[in-house]
Amino acid sequence: MKGPILSAKGLVRRYGDRVAVAGFDLTVHRGEAVGLLGPNGAGKTTTLSMLAGLVQPDEGEVLIDGLAFVGEDDPRKQRVGLVPQDLALYGEISAAENLAFFGSLQGLSGSLLKHRCSEALDMVGLTSRSGDRVKTFSGGMKRRLNLAAALVHDPDLLLLDEPTVGVDPQSRNAIFDNIEALRRAGKTLIYTTHYMEEVERLCDRVVIMDHGKVIADDTLAGLSQRAVTAGRMAMELADVRDGAWLQTLQSVSGVVTAALVDNTLSLEVLEVDRGAAAVLACLRDHGVRVTAFSTHQPRLEDVFLQLTGRSLRDG
Ligand SMILES: Nc1ncnc2c1ncn2[C@@H]1O[C@H](COP(=O)(O)OP(=O)(O)O)[C@@H](O)[C@H]1O
Ligand SMILES: [Mg+2]
Repeated sequence: MKGPILSAKGLVRRYGDRVAVAGFDLTVHRGEAVGLLGPNGAGKTTTLSMLAGLVQPDEGEVLIDGLAFVGEDDPRKQRVGLVPQDLALYGEISAAENLAFFGSLQGLSGSLLKHRCSEALDMVGLTSRSGDRVKTFSGGMKRRLNLAAALVHDPDLLLLDEPTVGVDPQSRNAIFDNIEALRRAGKTLIYTTHYMEEVERLCDRVVIMDHGKVIADDTLAGLSQRAVTAGRMAMELADVRDGAWLQTLQSVSGVVTAALVDNTLSLEVLEVDRGAAAVLACLRDHGVRVTAFSTHQPRLEDVFLQLTGRSLRDG
């Protein structure tokens, strides 16, 4: 089918006086993997709930394949799978029974339901524990089952709300491997996480939201370019001599900070290319020899910090 798989237009959601989502627009094409990033409280979970048709927007609309959901039971909702941020599982029943329950909510029954449940369990590596009650599972196993529950009806569009949060590194890797496999299988993904390196590995496009709005929507390369001028550098010096040159260096135009620890000089400069040239000239004038030189390219984390003023892991 042609056209975007998902199109959200002007989504607004209020809770009392609080505006959780303040006009959210997004178009996603089939097979894309979009990272959705934002500080806590930015409105990501509320947005994903609206995209999944679980929360009604106060304004705006969600179109799947160009059409809006009609009513609570619109079969179009089955095209979408949501991995919720808060675990949605029943502890008193088995893993297989949980999946059968979620599958039946999506209209599956009989042998197809059975087949899909065992496929989903297999994918997340829980087949051997399928008959065990979920309350006996570790946190990581619950997260894996939470992912399986969103996959059991084989949706084309997957909304993943921090699917790897709060689990041990081994489970995190296992879940992330599953998600990469889904991407290779051609699923369309919208992925929310606090781990930048996951977005850098998985996504070709990144949407950053803050205060309920999209503040950036670009490729990874495009976003990095926004922060490309500023940079950090480190230089190893053969001989620091008396160190008196450090003060001169700090006043060189374009140098923001310069610090010397043992033989390592760390610098922040306004522009990497011009800054490096000015610093090297200053050192040469003072007879200081440089034996190694490295620059730090801005990463997604730096771009995020610049745009939102907050680190992704801040509260
Ligand atoms: N059910 C709710 N009732 C009241 N306020 C809510 C509810 N859900 C979310 N909010 C508020 O909406 C804002 C956005 O929340 P949320 O969508 O969970 O953001 P995020 O997932 O980016 O952390 C926050 O200020 C949050 O407190
Ligand atoms: Mg959230």
